[in-house]
Amino acid sequence: MIRVALIPGDGVGPEVVREAQRVMSACIEAGLADLRTETFPHGAEHYLATGETLSDESFARLRDEFDAILLGAVGDSRVPDGRHARDILLGLRFRLDLYINFRPARLRLPELSPLRSADHLPIDFVIFRENTEGLYTGAGRVESPGTADERAVSEAIATHRGVERIVRSAFEHARSEGRSRVTLGDKANAVPHVYGLWRRVFVEVAASYPEIEAEMQYVDALAMQMVRSPDRFEVIVTSNLLGDILSDLAAELIGGMGLAPSANVNPGRHGLYEPVHGSAPDIVGTGTANPMAAILSAALLLRDGGAADAADRIEESVDAALRGGVRTPDVGGTRTTEQVGSWIADRVATG
Ligand code: NAD
Ligand code: IPM
Ligand code: MN
Repeated sequence: MIRVALIPGDGVGPEVVREAQRVMSACIEAGLADLRTETFPHGAEHYLATGETLSDESFARLRDEFDAILLGAVGDSRVPDGRHARDILLGLRFRLDLYINFRPARLRLPELSPLRSADHLPIDFVIFRENTEGLYTGAGRVESPGTADERAVSEAIATHRGVERIVRSAFEHARSEGRSRVTLGDKANAVPHVYGLWRRVFVEVAASYPEIEAEMQYVDALAMQMVRSPDRFEVIVTSNLLGDILSDLAAELIGGMGLAPSANVNPGRHGLYEPVHGSAPDIVGTGTANPMAAILSAALLLRDGGAADAADRIEESVDAALRGGVRTPDVGGTRTTEQVGSWIADRVATG
């Protein structure tokens, strides 16, 4: 039995999580998975009504009473500083020590890519984004605020232990999946302290994986290559902020934010699964949000939870929906969020 906490969150989050939930119910119905869900109210609305972003009590329940969390999105213009989003999303990543942000980018249908070359280039790589350090720890300060001498400092943190564990995970993944190359994305030429450490650790770890090619690329050139020759990437490992940026670029290459899932994990422990996209305020309430990223995130959750057959069935059903034109407008269709979710759920239930 997988105990799943649902945090639909803000904007299109509840719209897409509803469909992921429908698909997970179909997995139960088909006897492919055994799971129980409970919905948590955390998000902007809850924060504005109660002042609570993520209380210690909710955090303790999420940590102790569940195996995994499926989150929709957090972010709402009524909370302009994004405080609740940081407390909920970054709070869970940091406090649960979910150091791997696993973001696969697979082109499911060539016609979905904006690249002319996609007809003949397979795109199938994963980004291992470091998830507990970098520029995301909140370390820093503002000196002399409101004066002409104002000076803001955000500190990027890289520890040997933190870099070592994410780099090793990327190589382990490459080894277990039969991939032949791991690429480090860094900026050691301009940011020597932090990325000097990344390069040193990358080389150290790579030595234990002689069968895997280890390459280092400056992230600006890597972004260029990702557009020019996306087929050459297999596993990319990078820091928190660079991974955030590269994962939106990667999502666009495979058909857009509506198709990109992610898993925040610490192997053997809790996982937080979520689409790469945000709350998409520009389309909220229109019924056009693509639920596939959330549904594919549920598949990642089920796979990590031991329900590989359920995950396979979901992936096949998403592919069938895309092939059959059961698509929302972002991927060239005319169906609504609910129509796409229901179609995939039916397909999962009936096989
Ligand atoms: P966004 O990802 O929400 O939207 C970017 C673009 O992609 C928009 O045009 C949107 O309509 C489109 N899009 C996103 N999801 C889609 C879907 N499922 N189907 C079809 N189109 C989709 O990024 P943004 O506009 O920069 O951010 C909006 C809010 O979300 C901000 O508050 C931001 O901080 C937050 N955010 C949250 C998360 C998260 O919770 N994991 C991730 C990114 C951004
Ligand atoms: C993501 C998001 C978050 C991040 C934001 C909402 C803090 O963009 O999950 O990609 O930067 O990690
Ligand atoms: Mn992002």
